Amino acid sequence: MTFLITAGPTREPIDPVRYISNRSSGKMGYAIAEAALAAGHEVTLISGPVNLEAPRGARLIPAPTGEAMFDAVREHADQSDICVLCAAVADYKPANVSSTKIKKQSEKFLLELIPTCDILNSLGQRRDRQFALVGFAAETDHVEENAAKKLRAKNCDIMVANDVSGSDSGMESDMNEVTILFRDGEKKKISRAQKEIIARELVKIFSNFATKMFDKKNVMIN
Ligand code: CTP
Repeated sequence: MTFLITAGPTREPIDPVRYISNRSSGKMGYAIAEAALAAGHEVTLISGPVNLEAPRGARLIPAPTGEAMFDAVREHADQSDICVLCAAVADYKPANVSSTKIKKQSEKFLLELIPTCDILNSLGQRRDRQFALVGFAAETDHVEENAAKKLRAKNCDIMVANDVSGSDSGMESDMNEVTILFRDGEKKKISRAQKEIIARELVKIFSNFATKMFDKKNVMIN
């Protein structure tokens, strides 16, 4: 199968030296890419700026901003069987980007922000999509409830609920613990483990799901 994976943060420029970003190391997305490659799948990895080595064998597409990531996803999604959107895309970007460094002032400084495009939602709302769609919900409270809401709102097949409230699991950590929510209400838990181990399980779950989804479509066509 062919996986498209987004990973890492995006950086939304304010001026040539400053940006808005998220606390995301990219480790979970890169671990999923490695696990998918190890299982014999093809991988296109669309990555924000991270300090990680490119997984050997993946097609790596750098995407520094939300807009660049959106364009890359749009270009490659239809050649994929499974799209796993793991990136921590910045939800807002500055309304205006200064071409020169903004000078420090002694008064209060207000920055106008506008929403970025929601990449997962834009894929979920496509009626013609042929690929399985997976999102990651980063939550600090009411984790499963909020993730289930996102699953419905963004119309994905699977939402991986990620509790990012602690410093020893989730964002920037080597460890994670996730609950996988499916569209039909089914739930699976993977208890606390190294991100590599979680990634291996996730790849199995995603590819099994996609196989069933494609089988069902073939039965309907035949
Ligand atoms: N996502 C995306 N494009 C965005 C924002 C989020 O594709 N502009 C995707 C993420 O990659 C993830 C999912 O949406 O798969 C959920 O992201 P998350 O940050 O948990 O939620 P948000 O939709 O940003 O909502 P909130 O910040 O209110 O929790």
